[in-house]
Amino acid sequence: MELFIDTANLKEIEDASSWGYIKGVTTNPSLIAKEGLTQEEVINRIVDLIDGPISAEVTCDDNVDLMLKQAHKLYETNKKNIVIKLPINEAGLKVCHQLSKEHIPTNLTLCFSANQALLAMESGATYVSPFLGRLDDIGENSFQLIQEIVTIKRNYQYKTKIICASIRNPQHVKTSALLGADIATVPYKILLKLKQHHLTDSGLATFEKDALKTEQLSK
Ligand code: E4P
Repeated sequence: MELFIDTANLKEIEDASSWGYIKGVTTNPSLIAKEGLTQEEVINRIVDLIDGPISAEVTCDDNVDLMLKQAHKLYETNKKNIVIKLPINEAGLKVCHQLSKEHIPTNLTLCFSANQALLAMESGATYVSPFLGRLDDIGENSFQLIQEIVTIKRNYQYKTKIICASIRNPQHVKTSALLGADIATVPYKILLKLKQHHLTDSGLATFEKDALKTEQLSK
């Protein structure tokens, strides 16, 4: 399963890009608002930091013509790796269908049901993003949703990639991988936790101590 970073923070993206295993970036209007820059400024900088798909969201949610205009502008300015993020609603699905005919990559976001994911796949979405954390917050089972979407994808060999989003903890990442999602997009602080284990730390401390003893013998 590929890992993307879910942030608009340039320092976090720069650090994560040095690790080697982060293959893309997802942003959304709330993440961009935290950075005090315009979407255009943030995206222009991210394109230089990471060589992989970068999702940038169209913000005029219910007007197909305006959405298409904004999507084309976003794509034309940063053609290299830009993925147009669209909401799964009537307008978003129409825009997705049109962009897929133009071979412009799309990420259908705010997916909370298997039927929404089915519509995204049928509309030619490049990616569909089910939101795990926000479903868990309302007492629903996000892992069941992932299982259902993975099954639908396999049943009909859809090419749409499943990005598990709204990741709140390492368990979300592990289960997404076990259930066969294609990608998880993960906040920086959760990415840091993925590599941590107290037995790795204590084991390493013991090895370092013992290595010193061996070095002293050879002197
Ligand atoms: C994904 O593309 C979204 O940007 C993100 O995962 C939303 O996460 P949140 O529910 O923590 O806001």
